[in-house]
Amino acid sequence: MAEMMKAVRLREFGAPDVLRYEETLKPVAGAGEVIVRVHAASLNPPDLYLRDGYRALPPEWRPSPDFPLILGTDISGVVDAVGEGVSDFHVGDEVYAMVRFPHDLMTGSGAYADYVNVPASDLALKPAGIDHAHAAGAPMSLLTAWQFLVELGHDAPNPFQDLAHAPMELAGKTVLVNGAGGGVGHLAVQVAKWKGAHVIAVASGKHMTLLRDLGADVVIDYTRQDAETAAQDVDLVIDAVGGPDMERFLKVLRKGGALYIVNPLGFTGQDEAKRLGITVSSTQVRSNGAQLAEAGRLLNEGTVRIVIDSQFPLAEAAAAHERASRGSIQGKIVLLAD
Ligand SMILES: NC(=O)c1ccc[n+]([C@@H]2O[C@H](COP(=O)([O-])OP(=O)(O)OC[C@H]3O[C@@H](n4cnc5c(N)ncnc54)[C@H](OP(=O)(O)O)[C@@H]3O)[C@@H](O)[C@H]2O)c1
Repeated sequence: MAEMMKAVRLREFGAPDVLRYEETLKPVAGAGEVIVRVHAASLNPPDLYLRDGYRALPPEWRPSPDFPLILGTDISGVVDAVGEGVSDFHVGDEVYAMVRFPHDLMTGSGAYADYVNVPASDLALKPAGIDHAHAAGAPMSLLTAWQFLVELGHDAPNPFQDLAHAPMELAGKTVLVNGAGGGVGHLAVQVAKWKGAHVIAVASGKHMTLLRDLGADVVIDYTRQDAETAAQDVDLVIDAVGGPDMERFLKVLRKGGALYIVNPLGFTGQDEAKRLGITVSSTQVRSNGAQLAEAGRLLNEGTVRIVIDSQFPLAEAAAAHERASRGSIQGKIVLLAD
């Protein structure tokens, strides 16, 4: 007989109250897949975009999926069952993953649930030194920082430019992180420090103490001072905010420097960058269990830590989305499944 589980599902796009905690079928493992009993899941911007039907995109690009959907990509939990051909993971293993991203970008990967079906190649053992809530906060934000700053790890076509994104060597370089208090930003700060960079962190005032604790050498409160006038001769800017006027960061870079734009929609400075001798680059994060295993060592030893903004029971995912919509997130918002 089919087994049932609880999950947060949506039957239509809309505001956070479209998220419903309800009974549904427990997934079963296909070949190469693992069923994970989810202990914690975290929120990421694509969860909010999909809940809202990607309203910022032109109508012809918006999704028209079969409802109901289960949102979410990032989980930490325990292996409940393994499918045919899976030899690297066993029932009872503690694991974490970013599930099928961007493959399931327009349908949701099923993470806001008691159980989720995960390709074994997306999984890694959870760092033993951190709990499920912190591990669930890591996958998308940490893989984004890793694939932008350390190793791309895939050869998927770049949605933004013809050339593949190529992380620069960071030892001894000055790196400015914009959006440094957020999910991607707080990990980019720590990864750049680990790589030996001098780090300038840009965020609103409430994040200043945290960012110093995380190792930032200089902190700039953008509500008091424009980052583009406070910094100069920077080797690399990683902009983890996007939106209007990303081009302003070209002014803080030295000739030969680079601007990595995590949210590239609307960037118009390619010609100016070429004139100034600055590389502008972007990429889309992709699931990668091997990279999570490698980066997990930094989480395990405490070199990189996950900061939790707030935690909610899985049943209160709508309240978690309301918190996310208010912005100014510090680290990660986490859902606890038990
Ligand atoms: N390319 C990819 O594959 C990829 C992967 C992951 C994320 N993303 C994109 O990257 C962006 C960040 O993602 P995230 O998960 O880090 O989001 P997040 O956790 O919501 O963090 C965003 C941060 O930006 C800060 N911020 C807002 N306005 C700012 C401004 N004007 N100047 C400086 N900081 C500002 C916010 O706090 P304060 O205002 O309080 O400082 C917040 O901490 C999103 O647009 C997301 O879609 C892209």
